[in-house]
Amino acid sequence: MARITRREFVVTGTAAGLAAAAPRAAFGRAPAVRTRQSVRPVVISSANGNRFRNGGSETCVELAFRRITAGDDVLNSLVAGVNIVELDPEDASVGYGGRPNADGVVQLDACCMHGPTRRAGGVAALEGVRTPSNVAQAVMDQTDHHLLVGPGAQIFARNMGFEIEDDLNTDRSRRMWLEWKRRIDPSHYLHPDREHARRDVDAELLAAGLLTEDERYGTINCDGISPDGQICGVTTTSGLAWKIPGRVGDSPILGAGLYLDNEVGAVGSTGRGEANLYNLTSFLITEFLRQGMTPKDAGLAGLRRIQENTVERRLLNRRGLPNFGVTFYVLNTTGDYAGVSMYVGQNSRYAVCTENGAELVPLEPLLDGAASD
Ligand code: GLY
Repeated sequence: MARITRREFVVTGTAAGLAAAAPRAAFGRAPAVRTRQSVRPVVISSANGNRFRNGGSETCVELAFRRITAGDDVLNSLVAGVNIVELDPEDASVGYGGRPNADGVVQLDACCMHGPTRRAGGVAALEGVRTPSNVAQAVMDQTDHHLLVGPGAQIFARNMGFEIEDDLNTDRSRRMWLEWKRRIDPSHYLHPDREHARRDVDAELLAAGLLTEDERYGTINCDGISPDGQICGVTTTSGLAWKIPGRVGDSPILGAGLYLDNEVGAVGSTGRGEANLYNLTSFLITEFLRQGMTPKDAGLAGLRRIQENTVERRLLNRRGLPNFGVTFYVLNTTGDYAGVSMYVGQNSRYAVCTENGAELVPLEPLLDGAASD
């Protein structure tokens, strides 16, 4: 007997249910159910997924889309895509040449999820491996665990045959760390009253053009759906620039930096990881998709939750609104997608690749103005 998949069951079952319950006037119209034929394959990612090529001809989303539509496993395709960004020293927020921590050491976080098999893997505070997404995938494929951290993650990577390097800094990332160290920033170690004015060295570096907002929490999230509806995702980062050594952000944490359900959609994030972790917002947005919201509405509802839960004065601007950026990339099971952000600037974009090619498209904002207003 042919085994019916859950997706086929949902589609068939929903169609039968609708037919039984539909008023007469509804007959003759196409039933409001999705079928495998209605899936539009697509790959979405943060903007760096269509900016960096690591000396090759394709960007992350282009490579991933080409491989997915050629029939390769969706997660393998996405990981091969983000490898371009991890390996490209020009992206100063991911993998090799990523922003080092406060001690000048590049520590990397990553996770991945494979929708069809409901499996996932992650690594955090991993040193010495340029492509943490591959190690996250090895955790998923080769262990019974989800998350390995620090020296244990590195030992695992070595045992899996990954090359371990002493230092993932490039000259550029090291120079930037020295610049930061020179202006030493106490903002990670908060004053006990937590509202004590802090000297924002990052603001100085941003104003001087030595750091971009993207690089500060820089990350790549990349999600894709194949023509037959298989959904996967991957997120990889060097995390917050100049972080306290050992700090782990949202990127490797399921439900925060990434979450997906093959029957619902995929959600990933870049931006202030702590705000996302407090709300497990990728999981939340996935649940909003499950309730039938569009990717844009679900994403904006997730951002609204973050806004509502941001009450500490140090995290609010003069208008009483969050003074940080956080962005979600949302994809549903028909291949509809959205990129939503707490604030957008003139150049706030995310990457999309469809059969029409790759492009950077504007993010949708939750709030007007800028984080700093
Ligand atoms: N979203 C990246 C981080 O906070 O580490």
